[in-house]
Amino acid sequence: MTARRRTAILISGRGSNMRSLVEAARAPDFPAEVALVASNRPDAPGLTIAKQAGIATAAVDHKIYAGREEFEASLQKLLDIHRIDLICLAGFMRMLTAGFVERWGGRMINIHPALLPAYRGLNTHERALADGVKIHGCTVHFVVAGMDEGPIIAQAAVPVHDDDNAETLAARVLEEEHRLYPQALCILASGDYTVDGNRVRSKLPGMLAPSCRIGARD
Ligand code: GRF
Repeated sequence: MTARRRTAILISGRGSNMRSLVEAARAPDFPAEVALVASNRPDAPGLTIAKQAGIATAAVDHKIYAGREEFEASLQKLLDIHRIDLICLAGFMRMLTAGFVERWGGRMINIHPALLPAYRGLNTHERALADGVKIHGCTVHFVVAGMDEGPIIAQAAVPVHDDDNAETLAARVLEEEHRLYPQALCILASGDYTVDGNRVRSKLPGMLAPSCRIGARD
């Protein structure tokens, strides 16, 4: 097997998606290894979870830097030290500069709790309920300069129930996020895809390596 791609997960909060990536990457044939979990918030609960899982962790507190460039320079240094190859944003709540995004172009992905291009930005579940949509979901996409834009790698849909509120809907979507993100990282890390404009073409989940197929539906 070729070397597993060294992956950093950037978080700001509870880190449940980070945990699902860490768990998936435990399988020896998973094409990525989680080499670092970093948070811009030193008190992020996700950091504790990562530490307990034996992963290298770091806090890069954005508040102590004069601006975004300074913060990102520090983050970049950390990524260099850990020889990071790929980045997964998982509930990372800082906007990144175009320079940083460009540097990591094609090597940085994000999970968003909506079926993009619908509901970019925050409060996606509240907005979906207010619009009365019947289908909602989550998206993993390449990160580009525009917020929640970028070629879509994978999506999963869930039904919206009549008695849903933002919490129940969020929980249903989150369950799908935890299934989807490892699959998307697997696609990225295996390099088994092509990008043509906004279209990413990859193997169907059922064709992925066994360790990437956690809960896969073909
Ligand atoms: C998830 O809903 C993710 O889609 C969004 O932020 C939330 C992070 O949750 N980007 P967690 O920290 O992974 O539990």
